[in-house]
Amino acid sequence: MEKLLITGPTALKGEVEISGAKNAAVAILPAALLIDGTCTITNLPNISDVKLSCEILEALGAKITWTDKNTVTIDSSNITSTQAPLGLTSKFRASYYIIGAMLSRMGSVQVAMPGGCQLGARPIDQHIKGFEALGAEVTVEKGHINATANKLVGTSIYMDIVSVGATINVMLSAVLAEGTTVIDNAAKEPHIVDVANFLNTMGADIRGAGTDMIKINGVPKLTGNATYSVVPDQIEAGTFMLAAVASRGDLLIKNCITKHLEPITRKILEVGGQIEDFGDSIRVWNTEKPKPATIKTLPYPGFPTDLQPQMGVVLSLADGTSIINESIWDSRFQYTEELNKMGAKINAQGTRAYFEGVDHLEGAPVFSTDLRAGAALIVAGVVAEGETEVYNLEHIDRGYENIEEKFRKIGAKIKRVTE
Ligand code: EPU
Repeated sequence: MEKLLITGPTALKGEVEISGAKNAAVAILPAALLIDGTCTITNLPNISDVKLSCEILEALGAKITWTDKNTVTIDSSNITSTQAPLGLTSKFRASYYIIGAMLSRMGSVQVAMPGGCQLGARPIDQHIKGFEALGAEVTVEKGHINATANKLVGTSIYMDIVSVGATINVMLSAVLAEGTTVIDNAAKEPHIVDVANFLNTMGADIRGAGTDMIKINGVPKLTGNATYSVVPDQIEAGTFMLAAVASRGDLLIKNCITKHLEPITRKILEVGGQIEDFGDSIRVWNTEKPKPATIKTLPYPGFPTDLQPQMGVVLSLADGTSIINESIWDSRFQYTEELNKMGAKINAQGTRAYFEGVDHLEGAPVFSTDLRAGAALIVAGVVAEGETEVYNLEHIDRGYENIEEKFRKIGAKIKRVTE
């Protein structure tokens, strides 16, 4: 079993390069199945969810060629199967994008119910609502999803809930449909815009991504033959921004789009951190004990749920009591029990948690319960006094490229060891 050993406290200082966005990459790779030809994708994060996505594409008949660890060429001219390997699709959440892409390209697909982080109930009813509105038949039985369609026809779809996954999935299924599809109450995250930009680069006609109404004019085929670079990961950037604040350090975070970071910079300023914005990089520093704050997680451009645990570390050390309301996931406070083992004083009740700021955290053995919880525990380990052991690294490796190396470069005393 692998674990991270972290000795703190360290004030993080220096420069970090941000990788491509995980949640864009895991949608763009299935989107490549729509192309009757090849495409090259650059700036892919080298993480296990990306590798799994590529394995699924290969099993469906796509030819995958890695040029370097962040660049892949995909040839989807010859899709040979409509049955995605159940063992692989059940391993992570984003495998649901195979449904939208394969329905559109092949008119049929079978996948396992998607897995992923345990954050509470994760229904896919809005995805299914969209597929059915376009003319597909979808059945869910014994943990499998079967979707078929003789023909998909564009229509107007209202999302009952703002959902990243359902917005992207319906967009994928509508790209090759006959006529025009309109998605109302669409999610607006930067990765939605990125998937639309990728598809448009390959020949699709999608307008309005990044607003709450997306219009997709169906095209007969995507021809590809183009190169696309994945957008920088705003959650990875936000993780390092909050690490700078928690550790009272000074970081220059490079290769990011600072416009996407505004929901985070606003809250960082509120807790007393300082920011210098250079457009494609951002400097974040902090010299004081953080101020307390009230946070509510919301769809973009609200404060992202995927940075809630990392913000939880900052608020654990604040000068007073803070509140976080988690409005996206039912069960995203599991990490608070681990932080309490390190001396934090957090009282989590359902989807609300109260953080009574403490003077310092102390190193302890802790278990990452999901991807972002794992990132938060690394930040906690860096700022805590003494030695922290972080277990369950498979969660962290799903979404952060080379995380211990990036933390080491900015001064953290961190190493991965095998027990
Ligand atoms: N929801 C439904 N029905 C649906 C779809 C969603 O009720 O059909 C609900 C969910 O239960 C949740 C809310 O709608 O309460 C929002 O869920 P959404 O569909 O937006 O989440 P997702 O697409 O499953 C993506 C990210 C998550 C991130 C959320 C919210 C990917 C692969 N995952 O999940 O990322 O937390 O959006 O921003 O893009 C992570 O990276 O650590 C992570 C969990």
